Amino acid sequence: MSPNSRAAIGVFDSGVGGLTVFKALAERLPHERMVYLGDTARVPYGTKSPEVVTRYSLGCARELLQHELKALVVACNTASALALDALEAQLPVPVVGVIAPGAAAAAAATKSRRVAVIATPATIASGAYQRALHEARADLEVRAKACPLFVPLAEEGWTQGDVPRLVAREYLGQGFVDGADTLVLGCTHYPLLRDIIAEAVGPKVTLVDSAHATAEHVAGLLEKRGLLAPVGNAPERHFLVTDTPARFVEIAGRFLGQPIAGAQQVDLKLA
Ligand code: DGL
Repeated sequence: MSPNSRAAIGVFDSGVGGLTVFKALAERLPHERMVYLGDTARVPYGTKSPEVVTRYSLGCARELLQHELKALVVACNTASALALDALEAQLPVPVVGVIAPGAAAAAAATKSRRVAVIATPATIASGAYQRALHEARADLEVRAKACPLFVPLAEEGWTQGDVPRLVAREYLGQGFVDGADTLVLGCTHYPLLRDIIAEAVGPKVTLVDSAHATAEHVAGLLEKRGLLAPVGNAPERHFLVTDTPARFVEIAGRFLGQPIAGAQQVDLKLA
């Protein structure tokens, strides 16, 4: 058994949304110790510049390294799009972002070779999904759109009814997905709006969410390196936040599908 197999998987996000990735990881890897950090004091990342998102992401990673880690998962699509190279260059543990696994899953799913991707403004502007999709399969036709209002809707719990339905129609109607048979949900929050999004794009479009593809990727990576936690390992789950925990704890249940007991507030040291 590798000496580090009992170390934790660190997961960070700009806030609460990354819990969709955390949930997929916990389901796929039930014996792992996991530490989650939500940068709730600085959320959202999706409208910020690459420089700022990179600085915040490095701060999150440094905080998580205080815990003994065997891998770091960048649950935030925006941070994965803008800061993955810097994180990989500076961290002593393997770093996994959500973009490449999500893009690979979409490239495998499409039959029409036309893929649509929706994400935050910063993720779309970075072109990271568009590049990753073309790297996964060179002959894809990719269209991309920022859907910023989906984030506050998911946080408010407005995932059903007329308001999100109208917003989804506005973003995804007017021919955006025409001909595409696969839509990537390229933001942590969008899986909560899956039903509304599916309704707006119609039954012929397969929705791909990066969370499950990323969990599968992490499982494969740990297995390859002999770092899977032994069966029977106590799967501790620890939550850290950078703002006071109350709102995070309140919303977390919705994202995880079960309540959490609490979260600890920490201060990031930003360079
Ligand atoms: N976590 C972000 C993402 O997946 C969405 C929220 C934000 O803008 O910070 O891109």
